[in-house]
Amino acid sequence: MTDATRKARWIEQLKSAGIEEAAIDLRHILLAAADEAQIDDMVSRRANREPLSHILGDKPFWTLDLKVTRDVLTPRADTETLVETVLKQVTDRSRALYIADFGTGSGAILLALLSELPDAAGLGVDISESALEIARENAVRNALQDRATFRTGNWAETIPDNSLDIAVSNPPYIASAVIDTLEPEVRDHEPRLALDGGDDGLGVYHILIPELFRVLKPGGLMAVEIGYDQAAPVRALAEAAGFDDVGLTQDLGGQPRVISGRKP
Ligand SMILES: C[S@@+](CC[C@H](N)C(=O)[O-])C[C@H]1O[C@@H](n2cnc3c(N)ncnc32)[C@H](O)[C@@H]1O
Repeated sequence: MTDATRKARWIEQLKSAGIEEAAIDLRHILLAAADEAQIDDMVSRRANREPLSHILGDKPFWTLDLKVTRDVLTPRADTETLVETVLKQVTDRSRALYIADFGTGSGAILLALLSELPDAAGLGVDISESALEIARENAVRNALQDRATFRTGNWAETIPDNSLDIAVSNPPYIASAVIDTLEPEVRDHEPRLALDGGDDGLGVYHILIPELFRVLKPGGLMAVEIGYDQAAPVRALAEAAGFDDVGLTQDLGGQPRVISGRKP
């Protein structure tokens, strides 16, 4: 078989499994695989709708290279909007800021912020110990382990009042009933704990937003990722919690993506 015939066969296998970006996925697989047997194996896994990030074992996020497994949400490009929103509001990047990321997963948001704020340090909290193991590896992989700490916790429960300069979160915000309608890569392979936002998807924000207000220092900044249809209720929660300058940032696709605010 010629190279071109083999490639056409793999692309066909991916396309018939419903994968639209078959050629792009195959290119990634060809770059990662050592031999033809491994290519066959990776293509079969992808045709079973396993996420490409799980097959390759990593995912770029911001300027970082992150390890990804089935224990963490695969970081999304849309979440870079949260990183940008925060960085735009940090006027002095050389301040010794203390940041916490609640529901840190792979560590994506915290590590991206630390990579841009050389004098900042931070804490990543997650309820999943297996996610935190990946986050710790990602800190080492990106040489940020001296400034990043990770520990288990239920949102901000163990964090003292008035102790943070920046508090961020990309919480689970998909309505429970919607999860089963999502593509197999998400529905069958991403951790439920990372997705499920309860009956209307907003459950976590009701707990988290007042908690973020409590743990921030006066003048501290909060930013949370939201679903495309959650801007109005999450904005209302932020205002009710007492935040000033509550603002919405859209992602590159023009969808509402981040609500931010400052503690007076
Ligand atoms: C949508 S994922 C975000 C992961 C990562 N921050 C990102 O943006 O790619 C939500 C994360 O919240 C964590 N989580 C769920 N319930 C939690 C809780 N009660 N306390 C802390 N973290 C929780 C999940 O384990 C998951 O890692």
